[in-house]
Amino acid sequence: MARVGVLTSGGDCPGLNAVIRAVVRRGERHWGDELVGFLDGWSGVIDGRWRPLDVEAMRGYLSRGGTMLGTSRRHPWLVEPDGTNGLERARATLDGLALDALVVIGGEGSLASAHRAHVEGLVPVVGVPKTIDNDIPCTEQTFGFDTAVAIATEAIDRLHTTAESHDRVMVVEVMGRHVGHIATWAGIAGGATVTLVPEHPFDVAAVADVVRARHARGRYASIVVVAEGARPEPGTMEVVEPEVDRYGHQRLGGIGHAVAAELEARTGFDTRVTVLGHVQRGGTPTAHDRVLSSRYGVAAIDAVHEGGLGDMVALRGGSIVRVPLAEVVGRLKTVDDRLWETANALFEARPDGTT
Ligand code: F6P
Repeated sequence: MARVGVLTSGGDCPGLNAVIRAVVRRGERHWGDELVGFLDGWSGVIDGRWRPLDVEAMRGYLSRGGTMLGTSRRHPWLVEPDGTNGLERARATLDGLALDALVVIGGEGSLASAHRAHVEGLVPVVGVPKTIDNDIPCTEQTFGFDTAVAIATEAIDRLHTTAESHDRVMVVEVMGRHVGHIATWAGIAGGATVTLVPEHPFDVAAVADVVRARHARGRYASIVVVAEGARPEPGTMEVVEPEVDRYGHQRLGGIGHAVAAELEARTGFDTRVTVLGHVQRGGTPTAHDRVLSSRYGVAAIDAVHEGGLGDMVALRGGSIVRVPLAEVVGRLKTVDDRLWETANALFEARPDGTT
């Protein structure tokens, strides 16, 4: 029996509630744990806002998107507008609750805070890799990614028919931050003409050539998938650098419009832009994500009891394993070169113009 806290941190993601539910069910029924959920991520720890969690409280949440606990990007070391940080207040809350462990469900930044909390003795933690971006190292997949890819693919399928009807170029901007996992998967699944990802700077002139050549062959319409973090080869096209918020988080988005303007100017073809944005993060998780989230949740609470404090649960070779958070933080998982090769065998052309 242990007292275990749970929080969700960073951007929300389909499957968060399924993880919380699995932690609570396994914790209460198998380990006899008492569970508390902090509200709005680390904010709830800093401000002492939490609620008890039990199996009854989680009924109906398996298929719900978002997070029933709320989330934020705040963390105990963040310098607040008044110049202080929340570390001592967080410590007071955690000591007051006498927690044995904290399950942190978060992405890159949140797992880094979790690791810091663990090594600096604030609270022993177990991490769960969350994000639609799929950019967490040491795991083959984060939960939420499958749902985002499914949503982006459906959008591309729909854009094909309207693009063909009007003989238009459709630029679709998808999320993913500094990596192109969503773009690559949705580009393959949706049969994109070209896909642009951060890992491979693009040459917009080459993209325009591909679109022109398709039209010359009588192929109506082109679908250009652009990851929000994709960037042109230096000096080939102007882009506006993203703003950074007080959490140090770059607000990406807008590259789709820039690419569309360039393509229309270079080809003369009618071009439209769809920015999928937060639609990719909202709504019900796919069956795959519900299963992955549930497996992660069970493994996370088991890790609390089986010597896994300081670890993150991960998917490797189809199995759920544990990896030290120290190996996870400070880097991103980029699109695998072999997958990118496969993708390029299927796209109309490589975005850098090579064949
Ligand atoms: O990390 C998930 C993500 O959806 C990214 O793909 C995107 O860049 C970012 O979060 C958007 O953040 P916000 O919700 O703060 O606009």
